[in-house]
Amino acid sequence: MEIRHLTTIDDVSNEEILMMFDAADVMSQHKGKIKSKGRESLLDICAGYNMASLFFEPSTRTRLSFESAMHRLGGDVSSVTEAGSASVAKGETIADTAKIIGSYADVIVVRHPWEGAPKVIADYAGVPVINAGDGAHQHPTQTLTDLYTLRKEKGRIEGLTVALCGDLKYGRTVHSLAYALARFKANIVLISAQNLDMPDYIIKDLGFRYGCHQEEIVDVGQALKKINSHSQNAVRTSTIWVLSGLWGDFFKDLDEIPDIDAFYLTRVQKERFADIGITIEYPTFDGKLLEKIKADAIIMHPLPRVDELAYEIDGDPRSAYFRQAAYGVPVRMALISFLLSVGPFSDFKRTFQKPQFPRYKNRDNIRCGNPKCISMQESESQQITPEFEIVPSDSGSLLRCVYCEREIECQLLHA
Ligand code: NCD
Repeated sequence: MEIRHLTTIDDVSNEEILMMFDAADVMSQHKGKIKSKGRESLLDICAGYNMASLFFEPSTRTRLSFESAMHRLGGDVSSVTEAGSASVAKGETIADTAKIIGSYADVIVVRHPWEGAPKVIADYAGVPVINAGDGAHQHPTQTLTDLYTLRKEKGRIEGLTVALCGDLKYGRTVHSLAYALARFKANIVLISAQNLDMPDYIIKDLGFRYGCHQEEIVDVGQALKKINSHSQNAVRTSTIWVLSGLWGDFFKDLDEIPDIDAFYLTRVQKERFADIGITIEYPTFDGKLLEKIKADAIIMHPLPRVDELAYEIDGDPRSAYFRQAAYGVPVRMALISFLLSVGPFSDFKRTFQKPQFPRYKNRDNIRCGNPKCISMQESESQQITPEFEIVPSDSGSLLRCVYCEREIECQLLHA
């Protein structure tokens, strides 16, 4: 049987996501019923399976929610929690590490600072691989949790208006979430902090792939008019409003309640900045701001929070972030079962094919220009050849790196 992975949110179809959510609903009811050996039978569906949990970057929620998900399914877990404790520290390549771990484990969960590292592991491991966050690229299991939260809290995803706020440049959660929201026909308001805009290649891609209508908005008043009249007209195509650099001013300039169903806040991803010197205006979402949103809007955050969410709003029913973190366990239980084809997915016929584009592979002259991409790492270059998809674009076609998915700023090594 074909091995499936979750290296980007494109690896699963909307139908598969919704099936996983139905399974997560059932699995969440069994939470807590497993006690040592006298466990409930439904949740022994992963007994005999081992999950390798490789975290080469810090994590609390994601790692623990994966590990508790596997334990609740009756499976075992082997962990690496620091790059320094694995053989990569001795110079082993990611591809070799993948081959070895793939021979010990039935499923691999990996978080890595290099973008595209989970794809390389998926190429070499021979078992399903799950991306638990790769650099600033994507965080598809957080996205599944975010979509599940929207469905649980708002009853649907399609037609909702979701504002992604703050650091949209380096926040990997918002990258994969933007793709998923567009696919599920939700409207998206991109309210970035100054210098931290959503990368252009993602915005263009959303328009191109999902036909989202896009509007660049320069002030908050104009944004409000557009967003509020859009929902009154009940337009059903997905729209993206881009409010570049306006996160610092958004609430200051707000003079009516915006028709936004969910505010998805993010922290500044300082650890991913080269230019740490810049000052970023970043509001703290507190009780006063809460008064400026709809009575049934929700506040989401992948957590950890730093200063962008005041503790005083934790008790408000609209603050959904701790519930969101808790949903991560049943969602990951469903995902693991799906990839291992066990329990509710044991008879599931997989018909979904990820869209394929022609490939361009040339060891000698073109490399992806992203210094964080795994294909740019000298240590990996014996085993990884730069490779690109030739994808259609407004201006004809362009090359997209198969590892980090950036459109390439071509770096010609030889004339
Ligand atoms: C996020 C991450 O690691 O990208 N956290 C998480 O997985 N819940 C967000 C963050 O670190 O800001």
